[in-house]
Amino acid sequence: MNDKELLNRLHDHEKRILKALEGEKSLTIQELQQLTQLNKDSLEKASLWAKVKGILKIDEEITEFIELTKEGEEYVKEGLPEKNLLKILEKGEKSISSLNKKVKKFNIGLVWVRKNNWVTIQKGQLELTTKGRKSIKEQLPEEKILSQLREGKQNTKSFDKIIIEKLEKRGLIKQTIKKKREVSLTDLGKKILPKLEIKENIGQLSPKILKEKLWKNQVIRPYDVTLPSTKINPGKKHYITQIIEYIQKIWTDMGFKEMTGPLIDASFWNFDALYQPQDHPARDLADTFYMKTPEKGKLPDSQLVERVKSTHENGWTTGSLGWRYKWDPEFSMKTVLRTHTTSLSARTIAKLKPEDLPVKYFAVGRCFRNETLDWKHLAEFYQTEGIVVGEGVTFRQLQGYLKRFFTKMGFPKARFRPGYFPYTEMSMEIEVWHPEHKQWMELGGSGIFRPEVVKPLLGVDVPVLAWGLGFGRIIMDKYKVDDLRKLYLSDLKQLREAQVWLGV
Ligand code: PHE
Repeated sequence: MNDKELLNRLHDHEKRILKALEGEKSLTIQELQQLTQLNKDSLEKASLWAKVKGILKIDEEITEFIELTKEGEEYVKEGLPEKNLLKILEKGEKSISSLNKKVKKFNIGLVWVRKNNWVTIQKGQLELTTKGRKSIKEQLPEEKILSQLREGKQNTKSFDKIIIEKLEKRGLIKQTIKKKREVSLTDLGKKILPKLEIKENIGQLSPKILKEKLWKNQVIRPYDVTLPSTKINPGKKHYITQIIEYIQKIWTDMGFKEMTGPLIDASFWNFDALYQPQDHPARDLADTFYMKTPEKGKLPDSQLVERVKSTHENGWTTGSLGWRYKWDPEFSMKTVLRTHTTSLSARTIAKLKPEDLPVKYFAVGRCFRNETLDWKHLAEFYQTEGIVVGEGVTFRQLQGYLKRFFTKMGFPKARFRPGYFPYTEMSMEIEVWHPEHKQWMELGGSGIFRPEVVKPLLGVDVPVLAWGLGFGRIIMDKYKVDDLRKLYLSDLKQLREAQVWLGV
């Protein structure tokens, strides 16, 4: 920017300040106020602008002052009441009632001589202690400070803080902070000053300016878009909501329909329908939250329950031997906070008829497990679930869907490992490569639902590709949250500063 451009950008107030500083080494805000006739606010604002533009320097000097109050001054002249009291005591006067009449500010003096252990009191008589006697001749630290202040010494640093506090509490001194601001021209300011014309430029267009064509011979001050401005925090969705919506979009773009369902569900849907035996360790209290209210959930129609029961007990018509135990319908009614969104897949398949196929469904939702809480484990977390149901769907396709999903989440490199789930065969675990941490992150499980799951629910055995993926670690990573617990703290600063998720 050349000098002329810079001058054009100056607000009238800035120009006035500049002009006022002509030939001056520096001026205080007060002096500038007088010279520019600007009010304090406008002056401060304009000098800040000018500072940002590099034409002014503002030096701030903060000084702490200690001043005597009126009472303080009085004591400097007449002595501290406690000292005066000591002096009279030394002369032999002892009785409280007569001292009260003779000594000025006796009550205050009495408070302090007692506090300082300078006297003892017995039967209305004051008796000097050795400490009290000693103090008569000494200059007390309080006295020293008071007289120094009287002489105008205000170098507060040399004063004893405790005594200062004491004196302030007694109302004898007052501490004040004075800010002195000196404004001066920078080299750039000095350079452009000679070219400065105090001709008002147009800062805001008005009908008058347009009608009378005043703009023809006046300069319109351009906007300076490089100047800092106040930060605004526009409203936006919580970043977890943004990620959830993005995930919903990934699946719907691939032709999936969304499935939703209850967070609190009967064990039947969370476990039994998934061919998870009733003595399976994951169903243990130590892992699963069982609900007291409602304690029991509803079971679906009795035929479906019967099929699930026989599958658990003897394999029904699925070609398997089953788990070989007595299945308990009561136990399957117990309500749980769903431990995975796979409960929704079970519910969805149970609603399907063979003629609806092929179908693809997804879910995003919260799940709950009884974990020991720490920075990377919470008792609740998110999963995104998916199923692809149809004759002829393959394991390769399952891998394809998962790779596609994680690529869209920003992790194009994925690897698959064999896994185990009671409801799938084959089963597979998915890991994605984290390029910055240079490590594999385990993000979910998947597989093809076993006939023991599909046949009782759907009536026929059709391959179902299924997965359940976590994305808590991805949220942490994307938003630089170092502790999962912070996701639920609603820290305003973090929420404001969270970037808008634009996908990858
Ligand atoms: N439900 C499994 C979990 O929570 C994930 C999964 C879903 C595995 C579907 C296989 C099939 O870890």
